[in-house]
Amino acid sequence: MSATSKEKILILDFGSQYTQLIARRVRELKVYCEIHPFHVGLDMIASFGAGGIILSGGPGNVSDPDAPTIDPAIFDLGIPILGICYGMQLMTSLLGGDVGESKTREYGYARMQCDGSSPLFHGLTDEQDVWMSHGDRIESAPGGFVRIGHTKSSGVAAMEQRQRRLYGIQFHPEVAHTPNGSAILENFLFKIAGLCGDWTMRSFIESSIESIKERVGEANVLCALSGGVDSSVVARLLHEAIGDQLTCVFVNNGLLRQGEVEMVMTSYAEHFDIKVIMADAEKLFLDKLKGVVDPQEKRKIIGPAFVDVFVEQASKLENIKFLAQGTLYPDVIESVSLKGPSAVIKTHHNLALGDKLHLDLIEPLRELFKDEVRVLGEELGMPRSLVWRHPFPGPGLAIRMIGEVTKERCDLLRKADAILIEELVKQGWHDKVWQAFCVLLPVKSVGVMGDERTYESVLAIRAVTSHDAMTADWANIPHDILAMISNRIIGEVRGINRVVLDITSKPPGTIEWE
Ligand code: XMP
Repeated sequence: MSATSKEKILILDFGSQYTQLIARRVRELKVYCEIHPFHVGLDMIASFGAGGIILSGGPGNVSDPDAPTIDPAIFDLGIPILGICYGMQLMTSLLGGDVGESKTREYGYARMQCDGSSPLFHGLTDEQDVWMSHGDRIESAPGGFVRIGHTKSSGVAAMEQRQRRLYGIQFHPEVAHTPNGSAILENFLFKIAGLCGDWTMRSFIESSIESIKERVGEANVLCALSGGVDSSVVARLLHEAIGDQLTCVFVNNGLLRQGEVEMVMTSYAEHFDIKVIMADAEKLFLDKLKGVVDPQEKRKIIGPAFVDVFVEQASKLENIKFLAQGTLYPDVIESVSLKGPSAVIKTHHNLALGDKLHLDLIEPLRELFKDEVRVLGEELGMPRSLVWRHPFPGPGLAIRMIGEVTKERCDLLRKADAILIEELVKQGWHDKVWQAFCVLLPVKSVGVMGDERTYESVLAIRAVTSHDAMTADWANIPHDILAMISNRIIGEVRGINRVVLDITSKPPGTIEWE
């Protein structure tokens, strides 16, 4: 994919868990970038047209004979290069400096003293808090380099060869723990590489559309629409690119949120004029789930059932060559193997879809994070209520009701959940949390309503804040709002007489209960 703007940064990945964060920071600074495995070869690197190259960190040791490496001629291309952590160590070792094993592994915050006045630290004070995570360290910088920063444990925590525009930093500027990390990357991009930062989501859309058109040609594309943000944005983007060559299949498995079926059909089929086939499979799913209480068992039934329904619908269509899906960057698990990042995807039934239908995958969101997808959705003119919906798991309400899945329990949960979401939107809390939902428990409790004794279900409210769903904190929603939600649910949903609040973080808990 080529950006409309001519500017781009090439990130060579040496397997760091933070590589994707580098990409994100660069994009936040309005510079287009692509991540490629370290072994792409010098020809590709030279012809890529990068205004700058960033060598990522990685788990390797440069002294290891099998350590990931690059052609040292990269340093003669005249392209500014920033090596981060392992990237710096590799630069050092390839250019004749010394890398040694540090006596103490430096992990966590370190105070770096800046030496001299490097453009990399332009505008920053002489002492900087930086985030370290390395075993090896630079014993001596390569000839021609000067030290521009040191910490207690790293004699050379940052170095430069200003004329050749080669820079190395031992710390990670891409993580939030390095407070001025973005400013340092900004200096590399603008002060050192001389870029201007004119890339926007609009240019992402334009370049995506261009490459989708080129790849698809006259063929037809299938997209599994789930009602969630990611697949919706994919469908919208594809529709912009290829119009009627796109057909979406939306499976109603009976486990969706309240109003979801109508919302999908209205916003897509009517508003955007996208071809959407709705497969009503509620009964099929509920029949298959009858009597099943084990969470993994539920997943094992729902995934394949979805694939079957989808394949049945897809087989009625003609000339389909591609399957579009909303794989996001966090779904693409970085491999720390020497092969570079691999595209292993989380347990996702779409993966099975591509295989089963023998279709090639189109994944236009592969390089984006969830919040970037939302910005993209807004840029594509999608309704805010859809773009800012909370994530919803594929197995849907089935894993939000502990115990058996029945139509009655689904309806109960749908009603309660709709009230929760409605109140959070009203009170301005919806967008402050990552996810909020109700969990129906297989527990009944005694209550009193009017003069009547009741014996009904207990419902838990789960609301979490998070950046990426990998870790999460329970959201501290004000008590008066919780009280209002609880009153409304108990008053309006027959069958629930007690509401409790989940105050568990992740870890040790997970976001979903099952
Ligand atoms: P957990 O519960 O693992 O959830 O903390 C992390 C994020 O993943 C979502 N989730 C799923 N999504 N299929 C999905 O498509 C699943 O089986 C599944 N389980 C959890 C969850 O909603 C949260 O956003």
